[in-house]
Amino acid sequence: MKGFKLSFINNQPIQQKYIQYTIHQTVIKNSPPYTNMKLREYALLFICFLYLSFPSNVSGQNTSVKNIDYKVDSLMKLMTLDEKIGQLNQLSKGVATGPEGKKYDLDKEIQSGNVGSLLNLYGADSTYKYQKMVVEKTRLKIPMIFGHDVIHGARTGFPIPLAEAASWDLQAIELSARIAATESAAMGLHWTFAPMVDICRDPRWGRIMEGAGEDPYLGSAIAKARVVGLQGQDLAANNTILACVKHFAGYGAVEAGREYNTTTISIRHLRETILPPFKAAVEAGAGSVMNAFNDVDGIPASGSKFLVTDVLKKEWGFKGYTVSDWNSIGEMVSWGTSKDAADAARQAMNAGSDMDMCGFAYRNHLKQLIKEGKVLQSQVDESVRRVLNMKFSLGLFEDPYRYSNPAREKETLYKKAHTDAAREVAKKSIVLLKNEKHILPISKKIKSILVVGEVANNKWDMSSTWSGMVDSKHNVTILEGIKAKVDKTTKVYYTQGADPKDEKILSLDSALVLAKKCEVIVMTIGERAWWVGENNSYAGIDIRKNELALMNGLLKTGKPLVILLTNGRPIIMNEVAEKAPSILETWWLGSMAGHAIADVLFGDYNPSGKLPVTFPRVLGQIPLYYSQKNTGRPAFTMSNGKYDGGIYRDVVNTPLYPFGFGLSYTTFNYDELKVISDSTKIGLPVTVTVKIKNTGKVSGEEVVQLYIRDMVASASQPIKVLKGFKKVPLAPNESTVVSFTLTPEDLSIWDREMVFRQEPGEFKVMVGGDSDKVITTSFYVK
Ligand code: NOJ
Repeated sequence: MKGFKLSFINNQPIQQKYIQYTIHQTVIKNSPPYTNMKLREYALLFICFLYLSFPSNVSGQNTSVKNIDYKVDSLMKLMTLDEKIGQLNQLSKGVATGPEGKKYDLDKEIQSGNVGSLLNLYGADSTYKYQKMVVEKTRLKIPMIFGHDVIHGARTGFPIPLAEAASWDLQAIELSARIAATESAAMGLHWTFAPMVDICRDPRWGRIMEGAGEDPYLGSAIAKARVVGLQGQDLAANNTILACVKHFAGYGAVEAGREYNTTTISIRHLRETILPPFKAAVEAGAGSVMNAFNDVDGIPASGSKFLVTDVLKKEWGFKGYTVSDWNSIGEMVSWGTSKDAADAARQAMNAGSDMDMCGFAYRNHLKQLIKEGKVLQSQVDESVRRVLNMKFSLGLFEDPYRYSNPAREKETLYKKAHTDAAREVAKKSIVLLKNEKHILPISKKIKSILVVGEVANNKWDMSSTWSGMVDSKHNVTILEGIKAKVDKTTKVYYTQGADPKDEKILSLDSALVLAKKCEVIVMTIGERAWWVGENNSYAGIDIRKNELALMNGLLKTGKPLVILLTNGRPIIMNEVAEKAPSILETWWLGSMAGHAIADVLFGDYNPSGKLPVTFPRVLGQIPLYYSQKNTGRPAFTMSNGKYDGGIYRDVVNTPLYPFGFGLSYTTFNYDELKVISDSTKIGLPVTVTVKIKNTGKVSGEEVVQLYIRDMVASASQPIKVLKGFKKVPLAPNESTVVSFTLTPEDLSIWDREMVFRQEPGEFKVMVGGDSDKVITTSFYVK
């Protein structure tokens, strides 16, 4: 531990290293800033230290809640109002992920104690340098917390979150988050702005790639896995960091998928669909939450007391702190709900929003607002307390430099164990959408193969957006993955073909000439990686014409064609779905993308992914999701009469690929669906079992999905909602009985009065390998 010595009070070793650090810096060493302290402050500080030394480390951990509360209270007694406000101010070093506003001198701000947190700075050396500024130049030396967008991997790139959700593999997702945390913590970071848990049913919104898709049940399970992966059991451990659940709330529901737009969210939709993953993440212990940019029912989320205080802090008992999105407090002026930045600061603070990201609203206005009585000092104290609490939990007061260790950084990043895990989750995230005539898997001994597509030979695309720290230059491309997999004698040809970003076909002739020489063609089709992510809403999400023309040309050669979809959102792809004999959804899969794709192409891994989001046939069907309501004139069941419900005249209502869909190189049969007791009581769990058999010739894994429908309820309910899933491995001919327990919570609804409770009545149970193909039974709750 650089520059700190073990200290003793009353002959007892001080187990809380924060005290040791502070004492050494202040009382023992009497460092220069403290020579200006008044006698009263010294006395207070000394009393604090004695006080703090008393509650010892009973559990052997330094994070006992009681201990931390003592420390925070004691420290707060020493802080001036300016120092407190400084803790609520977050500034950025380097890259801006939003408008930058007025220029300012960052170092000066830090050294004046005005910065509680920095974002966009990483690396053991850089974070050490900036932490040192606080430790050596500010009066109370309160360490900064360094945050960054580690969205899908730090140095080792993992699949985009939407892709990982397609694995339906909670262990793999948790491990991915843990590795991201381990590498981040080795790069000096304490905090990531992840997971994004926004439910999204509109693929025009580019940020759909950052979430877990359309469903609150799957989204909640994944939110929990990600929080646990990032934070572990002990935030102070060197393989964990603080999670930040975002964007609270409703950002995934921006109207028409248009970035930063308004929303129209009923309280029912909020409770039933949007909030559950946030609640799950908070229950899993998430230490921070980020406000959304959008408004909800006319109130910008950063200024919504209902969301931040009433729901998050009071109803759910959230103990961490909230951070605004980039200037989202200041932006309340543009929303027209605050007359100026001071008014915005007043509204946000009174709503319970704790930290201001890059908006200067708190830094510039909170002091005056308190003076004017517009904000209570106790409200600010409460926010500061929350921030300090997390800094203690992270162990920053023990050693502010604990995350900035160059040796650890060097030995931790891009380890083999990390790239192995990235390959595992990447292959699990691939979804087989079509496999006519069993073109897949391809034999490794094939004599010749043609790889077509700009994306197939591009390293950076494999990372996609929100991957700023990833070592993209070492990414394995699709072409490299294929070359590494096939027999030495196999000839692998490559041509760019068509780049989706251009209108031209780059090399149709050479593609056709090469195709004729080859036994099989593998072609990438879809998006470029930077078309998704923040501020990448598109009104058209169709496959580009040049790619379709090239695909049609290649199909004419009569050679077997495998399409690899590369995309971060559902795309409109009817022609591909209809004409291409085999299609793999390969998203953006991170550092090991090429190997993972080759594992699936050549049968070393049998694809097991299932879509976490519905693929519409045409743009006009959006929003299209599986958990539709029945309505008064059900679209799916009525005859084709004049007044049929909910249909378009020009397109069927069904999606191209339903939620939960994904094929395998083998087949599975579902049978013997049973409810252990077909009549049960309110408050009791219900057990459902189903027999599943691998009826094909190879081993495989199946995601067994359970849906229910509450047949009669006081408020209209969807025709099916996911309430359980299990991923089971099965050898050929092997069968197993999968058991699900539906808890009273699973069977509860937000009733007509918006009370969450169980209502008696009939429930339909549906189980299958996707949301469409299910077998059914039912039971009663009395
Ligand atoms: C804006 C984005 O909306 C948010 O998700 C991100 O964490 C922040 N910028 C910080 O980069």
